[in-house]
Amino acid sequence: MADAFDLEPLTPRLGAEITGIDLRRLDATAFAALYRAWLEHKVVFIRAQRLTLDELLDFSRRFGELMRLPYIEPLADHPEIIRVLKQADEVDMGVFGGEWHSDFSFLAAPPKASILYAEEVPPVGGDTLWADMERALARLPAACRAALEGRNAIHVGAPYGVRHAPAADARFDGSIGIERDNPEADRETRHPAICRHPETGAELLFVNPTYTTRIDGLDPAISEALLARLFAHAIRPEFCCRFRWRAGSLAIWDNRSTLHYAVNDYDGFRRCLYRTTIAGEPPQCA
Ligand code: SIN
Repeated sequence: MADAFDLEPLTPRLGAEITGIDLRRLDATAFAALYRAWLEHKVVFIRAQRLTLDELLDFSRRFGELMRLPYIEPLADHPEIIRVLKQADEVDMGVFGGEWHSDFSFLAAPPKASILYAEEVPPVGGDTLWADMERALARLPAACRAALEGRNAIHVGAPYGVRHAPAADARFDGSIGIERDNPEADRETRHPAICRHPETGAELLFVNPTYTTRIDGLDPAISEALLARLFAHAIRPEFCCRFRWRAGSLAIWDNRSTLHYAVNDYDGFRRCLYRTTIAGEPPQCA
């Protein structure tokens, strides 16, 4: 149904802002249109919502089964929601999601989608960026693609990635309780480096700088050089979009086909969002 809402793409291929919609009152037809738009644009943004946490859960469940996230402390009264919070006095420290990643790619079945709803954001700053991994793969130089064909990439949680993991005594997660040194997160998980999207059939590059440590079967130095090249390529500006939050904004991203990055440029201001995460399936080789 073309007029269930208005949609304005943020870039030609990635990201779209949707208006004229109240997520508390979406009939099945409007939801189906939203879902199609989400698959097509990979991340959609909906402003000016007024959701309670229970309404956020109800809406999120329409995308699929909710996951209880391992290694991150959820809200005590809503175990399927985490609070993505940085307080105004948490300065000179890292931030949750502050490096390019897809959520929990180190799990055997990484999430299908994540939904983030803004309660309070800085007057300026605290944007989030997304990168389109379908486009990144489509524009990958042939030699890089050939080096990845049929190979697995190794992902490690650690948690929060080994490459960018701060020192054990560093303040990095502030208001978010993140468990460290859990062997379940620290073990290696293998996923195809080139995956097929289970719903659209698109081929995707499935590696990210936070959790991907090696390409299986390659000499370590070659793997490191290849990953460095892939990471730099995947986040080229022409594959990215950037969203400026306002209170009441909501983002829904496809965690299979995008990476994202929380910009940590707002020391001195409180930023508080609520996130739900939709369960996914093991990535399949393209
Ligand atoms: C996340 O990685 O889920 C957090 C994104 C953000 O805070 O913008």
